[in-house]
Amino acid sequence: MKLTIIGPGKMALALAKGLEKEHELTIVGRDGEKLLEFTKKLEKHAKTALLDKYDIDAQTVILCVKPHALKETASALKGKADTLYSVLAGTKLETLKKAVKAENHVRAMPNLAAQFFASMTTLTGDKAKKEEAEALFASIGATLWVESEKELDIATAIAGSGPAYLALVAEALADGGVREGLGRADAMKLVEGLFAGFAPLVAHGHPAIVKDAVMSPGGTTAAGYAALEKNGVRSAFIEAVEKAYGVTKK
Ligand SMILES: NC(=O)c1ccc[n+]([C@@H]2O[C@H](COP(=O)([O-])OP(=O)(O)OC[C@H]3O[C@@H](n4cnc5c(N)ncnc54)[C@H](OP(=O)(O)O)[C@@H]3O)[C@@H](O)[C@H]2O)c1
Repeated sequence: MKLTIIGPGKMALALAKGLEKEHELTIVGRDGEKLLEFTKKLEKHAKTALLDKYDIDAQTVILCVKPHALKETASALKGKADTLYSVLAGTKLETLKKAVKAENHVRAMPNLAAQFFASMTTLTGDKAKKEEAEALFASIGATLWVESEKELDIATAIAGSGPAYLALVAEALADGGVREGLGRADAMKLVEGLFAGFAPLVAHGHPAIVKDAVMSPGGTTAAGYAALEKNGVRSAFIEAVEKAYGVTKK
């Protein structure tokens, strides 16, 4: 497929690295030098074009600018795309439809792990493009199509923001180790290994099963787990999702 990626930033680069193997890419931006720098980081040749009066007619476009830049970017474009994919956090389909002309509009919410092809990307929008969307974003990790924007915004609060929440958990566990006398580098290595090993565990078993399998009567895990419950960690995470989702409702 021929794909046009607009806004040569971090998310665009992660996507381009995932997509370049199977697709022909054109990268569009407002700064020629940045576009050149961007394409140097890719393995295959990608075309570049300046944003001003760029014609998206009949193209498949992936919009990767910041949400506040939508208006300015859209006003620089001409023509009507076949499909507009938008990764803009919190920007609704209604707003996208008003801003950029396209036959189909799809929202995608990847996360920071896209740079390692391990994103959890949620998708929603015009159903005609469901299969195409899933295939495109599978190039940067796992995908989940949901039926409403409400679900996508809740998903943003879990999987979009999630790397920051888990970073807090990772750092806190390492801090706990250091407090008890472990070296910082060793504590970080343990946390790194823990997270790598946890991914297949949670993929193959419900969290409650994982917890029960580790926790033996009167044991170390039971003591640590009780401390987490006493300090309200469960409700803190539930509230974190509530607050993050709340921001997208504004
Ligand atoms: N990073 C993440 O973890 C993540 C996760 C999910 C979704 N997203 C979404 O991905 C999008 C991009 O985020 P990012 O992290 O990749 O940001 P970024 O690295 O700052 O890239 C933003 C890009 O937008 C361009 N841009 C900014 N203002 C513009 C304007 N007025 N007109 C034209 N282009 C403009 C920038 O161009 P210049 O280089 O010329 O300034 C840059 O190429 C955001 O909408 C964000 O919500 C990001």
